[in-house]
Amino acid sequence: MSGIVAAWSPGCDVMEIEEIMTQNTHASVAPEAGARVLSGMQPSADSLHLGNYVGALLNWVSVQETYDAFFFIPDLHGITAPHDPADLRARTRNTAAQFIAGGIDVERSTLFVQSHVPEHAQLAWVLTCITGMGEASRMTQFKDKSLRQGADSASVGLLSYPMLMAADILLYRPHGVPVGEDQKQHVELARNLAQRFNQRFGGTFRVPDPFIPDVGARIYDLQDPGTKMSKSASSPNGLLNVMDTDKQIAKKIKSAVTDDGAEIRFDREAKPGVSNLLSIYSAVTGRAVADVVAQYQGKLYGHLKVDLAEVVVAALGPVRDRAQQLLADPAELDALLARGAQKAREVASPVLAEAYANVGFLPAAP
Ligand code: TYM
Repeated sequence: MSGIVAAWSPGCDVMEIEEIMTQNTHASVAPEAGARVLSGMQPSADSLHLGNYVGALLNWVSVQETYDAFFFIPDLHGITAPHDPADLRARTRNTAAQFIAGGIDVERSTLFVQSHVPEHAQLAWVLTCITGMGEASRMTQFKDKSLRQGADSASVGLLSYPMLMAADILLYRPHGVPVGEDQKQHVELARNLAQRFNQRFGGTFRVPDPFIPDVGARIYDLQDPGTKMSKSASSPNGLLNVMDTDKQIAKKIKSAVTDDGAEIRFDREAKPGVSNLLSIYSAVTGRAVADVVAQYQGKLYGHLKVDLAEVVVAALGPVRDRAQQLLADPAELDALLARGAQKAREVASPVLAEAYANVGFLPAAP
């Protein structure tokens, strides 16, 4: 049993839970033994993009050093929009391969596929029943995506997606959820639902904190630096992919939109294009933005772009190559994911049983 679960009893109320939470509110604070993190990334494209890599994966690799870490591929989320089954299968493996290639250590962390752990969908229903319609329809991502898909063709799955995400999180009683900034609202909903459930049915869930990186929490589209980098980018040149060739990376960075004037400084309002390049540089190299700005005083945008291409290729190239090697042996990847699912169920299953009992479901025959 982990430190988190052992230190916390089902009878404790929201106040007590909040007290426990404040002991570990940020990834940079040394966590208590056994403290847990959990996060996931949708298998909705053949490659992760740089936003996923910088906003989430780099953070995951660092938190797995000090936390009991659970990382998963939310394939149930991958069907909220029309999809192709063969693509979904391939992308689920691709995503797993990129996690490992990017530094997720499967000996240390638990890596699994969401649909292999049925407890996620089972808890999602309960959480859906304690979520208000207004609350669900206020979620920014739902509003954006349903607008893009058209109100009539947007699925009910798209609306109930944040409750499934809350279930993903709460089943593991994590302290932290390492995500980029765009997922903060969903983690907030998970926190609200945990508190609501605990108040109505007795303490069951930990109220988790979002762990959002200081740099790179929001990477913007290279062609449209007012919009976040995303799989649904309007131009493929705006999106840097982990699986891109070195040449593609260099070309996209070279053609990135910059701003009027020639000065290289960080100013999101006045210089969104250059500021985005500086954030990427800083996140990929681990150097402070101010330090990078100082290096480029008196230099041209072109200098920054050439060097940025070099550091991004140095970071992503080995991840791409390793992912390709891993994908050459899908049976090994599948075996690894099966082991992960088994470990995940060992944690999720008793938590679901407790939630079901607290909500008033009769115990099923053993
Ligand atoms: P997803 O798949 O859209 O994104 C995966 C992770 O990448 C981060 N991210 C970004 N970070 C910085 N800049 C960007 N432009 C950028 N784009 C994406 C996201 O913040 C995220 O951390 N709903 C989630 C998946 C999910 C999940 C969960 C996450 C399902 N269940 C439980 C945490 C816990 C999603 O769609 O992320």
